[in-house]
Amino acid sequence: MNLVFLGPPGAGKGTIASEAKSTFDIPHISTGDLFRSNIKGGTELGKQVQAILASGDLVPDSVTIAMVEQRLGEADAQKGFILDGFPRTIAQADALEGMRKVDAVINFVLDREQIVARLSGRRVCKSTGRTYHVLYNPPKVEGIDDETGEALIQREDDKPEAILNRLNVYEAQTEPLIAYYRAKNLLIDIDASPSPEVVLASLVKALGK
Ligand code: AP5
Repeated sequence: MNLVFLGPPGAGKGTIASEAKSTFDIPHISTGDLFRSNIKGGTELGKQVQAILASGDLVPDSVTIAMVEQRLGEADAQKGFILDGFPRTIAQADALEGMRKVDAVINFVLDREQIVARLSGRRVCKSTGRTYHVLYNPPKVEGIDDETGEALIQREDDKPEAILNRLNVYEAQTEPLIAYYRAKNLLIDIDASPSPEVVLASLVKALGK
């Protein structure tokens, strides 16, 4: 099954994808995670995109499309995939059409107040990418990753100014994809406000699995 997870920053796409990948036995491909791992590894791509990610702007389409095309060519993605954070522009959606057939696009619906609350309270483990929330999903020991024992950090783009920019970028460049995929009869709206367990159950039900 080839799935696209669409929705505003902080709607819980990554949280649900990390569970859904085992439910559906397909890889979770997050463009944000791919960029962050390049930044961490100090690659040329990482150097090119570091400041863009910190500000909350989008990486140019040409760079993002090439990275996704390469990832979708890998062996594990031949049985299906969850694309999380791609496409984010009409140009990226058009490019994806030329790469693979999409079976469904899940639109995670969440209001602005909850988005800001989720993003501002998010904490991550830098080495594993494991995600927590100070209120909704706290670690066992405050500020410490449950498994590695490392100190948790706040993503640069979860600071107030970058959150505002990401929301504006989402509305201007990504929201038009809702109409784009609705017109193709691929869009499934999911209420992203309940607990992750409930959101995952709605997803499984909507996909008829
Ligand atoms: P990316 O990493 O994709 O950021 P995003 O889309 O803004 O998504 P997030 O990771 O912030 O949110 P999420 O929906 O996954 O929420 P999460 O599950 O973590 O992209 C980062 C940057 O990379 C972009 O700004 C851009 O620069 C670049 N980029 C990436 N893709 C690109 C593209 N295609 N084109 C160009 N540039 C691109 O949850 C958030 C918090 O809420 C967590 O703390 C979590 O614990 C909590 N939470 C989750 N679900 C629930 C729930 N149900 N109840 C309570 N709390 C919850």
